[in-house]
Amino acid sequence: MKLCLVALIVLASFNNLLSQTKPDKKMDTFISTLMKKMTLQEKIGQLNLVSVGFDVTGPVVSKNVDENIRKGNVGAVFNTFTPVAVRKLQEMAVTQTRLKIPLLFGYDVIHGHRTIFPIPLGLSSSWDLVSIGKSARIAAEEAAADGLNWVYSPMVDIARDPRWGRISESSGEDTWLGSQIAKAMVKGYQGSGLGQKNTVMACVKHFALYGAAEAGRDYNTVDMSRRRMFEEYMPPYKAALDAGAGSVMTSFNEIDGIPATGNKWLMTDLLRKQWGFNGFVVTDYTAINEMVAHGVAKDLHEAGALALQAGVDMDMVGEVYLSQLEKLVKDGKVTVALINAACRRILEAKYKLGLFTDPYLYVSESLAPQVMMKKEFRDAARDIARRSMVLLKNHKQTLPLKRTGSIALIGPLANNQRDLIGNWSGAGDWKKAISVEQGIKDLIGNALVVNYAKGANITDDTLLIKRLNAHGGELAIDSRSPDEMIREAVQVARRSDVIVAVVGESQGMSGEAASRADIGLPGRQLDLLKALRETGKPLVLVLMNGRPLTLKWENEKADAILETWYAGTEAGNAIADVLFGIYNPSGKLSVTFPQSVGQIPIYYNYKKTGRPFLGGVLDKYRSRYLDVTNEPLYPFGYGLSYSTFSYGDVKISGNSMKPGGSIDVSVSISNVSTFDGEEVVQLYIQDKVGSVTRPVKELRNFKKVFLKAGETQNITFTISEDDLKFYDAAMKYWAEPGDFNVDIGSNSRDVKTAMFTLTK
Ligand code: NOJ
Repeated sequence: MKLCLVALIVLASFNNLLSQTKPDKKMDTFISTLMKKMTLQEKIGQLNLVSVGFDVTGPVVSKNVDENIRKGNVGAVFNTFTPVAVRKLQEMAVTQTRLKIPLLFGYDVIHGHRTIFPIPLGLSSSWDLVSIGKSARIAAEEAAADGLNWVYSPMVDIARDPRWGRISESSGEDTWLGSQIAKAMVKGYQGSGLGQKNTVMACVKHFALYGAAEAGRDYNTVDMSRRRMFEEYMPPYKAALDAGAGSVMTSFNEIDGIPATGNKWLMTDLLRKQWGFNGFVVTDYTAINEMVAHGVAKDLHEAGALALQAGVDMDMVGEVYLSQLEKLVKDGKVTVALINAACRRILEAKYKLGLFTDPYLYVSESLAPQVMMKKEFRDAARDIARRSMVLLKNHKQTLPLKRTGSIALIGPLANNQRDLIGNWSGAGDWKKAISVEQGIKDLIGNALVVNYAKGANITDDTLLIKRLNAHGGELAIDSRSPDEMIREAVQVARRSDVIVAVVGESQGMSGEAASRADIGLPGRQLDLLKALRETGKPLVLVLMNGRPLTLKWENEKADAILETWYAGTEAGNAIADVLFGIYNPSGKLSVTFPQSVGQIPIYYNYKKTGRPFLGGVLDKYRSRYLDVTNEPLYPFGYGLSYSTFSYGDVKISGNSMKPGGSIDVSVSISNVSTFDGEEVVQLYIQDKVGSVTRPVKELRNFKKVFLKAGETQNITFTISEDDLKFYDAAMKYWAEPGDFNVDIGSNSRDVKTAMFTLTK
């Protein structure tokens, strides 16, 4: 079944890629004929994207929308969905404008549309490309049935700073894993090709380097060497485009001193000329306008010229193109040819989506109720939610829990629904989400007594609550004092066999414009845990959060810790499945957890220093801290299982590889426990000596394998010369001859090693 799905997706995406790249004479003729009829203002209108309706996802809102649509001043709309709402605006465009050009309908479909899947950081922790692709496929089915044809996903920004709230929307810190996920998502959204009733066009974002904002503060400056850019940050964007993504969104940050939205090197030289991208580029929300605040344009007139000249086709909400381009042409500052090129690319997207044949292709009032949140989709959401959870600690097999006796279910997130669907889940209905309390009761029934106490507010900071609630939060402060709540929780714990404390952040504490400088558990939750620990009862933590947290005390003192991120509509069911052993956890971290904020940035594939710390307690002139060790709390790739897996030595088919050749490496893995389980077997390569410094290791492959209790399997990977390539001092991408270590293991730290040589 899985294999079939993979084969289908591969075949579909191949066709999709072909249809994206091969010249289409019919389309060219159609668009040329249409463009001959268009006035300059109508062409400019196609470059204008307005926000209408349900959500406000930026600092300003579009005005006079109906009037602008009728005048032909709008090419695309976002934040409007449902067949009824979309039909109304589409009708306006195709019946009341001079040329009857249909609109694109976009939306932030990020981790599901109506059926909400785990946040992207959670999805990536599944290391399960088939399930990740499936989540995007289901999101596309629902989005397309809701009138949408364009989604602002995948976000493929490499993210290594847990202070940055948008790390929750990312696939974590690794380039290789991120690239595989980028491909799987695009293929999922675009399915068997654009122009089908159940597929949508993907938009890869945020091009580029948005995840590297200094100090983890959203919208902040990025400054990066070309080497790091091309080795670590660019590959996921490229992978998404190679998978056929039809559009790209600019990022808010600058690159080499020039904001991405006005950066010609980025948008034209690299994206179009070097990478051959032939889709269209949309700005992020008011990003053209923001070039004035960046200080690279003195007014909107200059900003508009910069963006168009850079190769940016569509203006999201800012209406700079709409207000400035005609005048810019008159002043001789931009050419009509540039406007034509941008307009053509947008019309091409509409053509590929089938909108010229049927503007209502995605609008079916009868289809929507059949598709939305159907059982099959909710089942899939439950399954991938379980797969995305990471077991961080399990002292003396505290988990899985017994299905009899009593548990104290404590914590502000224990019977919460709003937070479970995470941020960027605008079309999701949190009231349909399954809470942990509900999930446990539904799974176990009366055999288990569940004693509930809230124990703490997520935060007691009233100003923060006000800010979070102003943007979709549902936080409230309990009428009882924090101490009273803790006392009640302790009493509940005393009369129960085991404590399950469901703690973490509120969903609005991560996502856009939600950076945190202190990434511990907010509010009095740590005090609550300390009081619960005092009872001496087994303490299980279920974490919900959109970023790595600092969990030093928690890691030392809790008996078991399950990281569940925000697991989506089916969160409570999935968490119950894992807690009670219906599903054996198999997730692995796609991002490093630091011990303390001061260690950030911390990631597994760091460069070697000239003075590495070698462990000597009194060593001074070494790369180390005085107050904390260099190690993370949990390394990249880390995650436990109820099974115990034992790795044999790494065997290698030969100790040398010829240029252009390959070698096989294999390892035997045994499940030496009584639980059937899945393991993500990870392969890392280290280039021992290079003409430029090389990371200590880089992920180059993995396999997620299922092993029955007692079973042993031999896992083989093939390493080819491509896996050894990097950019040399002259930025030539090739594999230098020399010695390499190959590490195989259950995470980036715990590995077994073999060595080989790439010969000249
Ligand atoms: C701003 C965000 O950066 C981007 O990710 C999103 O797609 C747009 N707003 C539209 O909501």
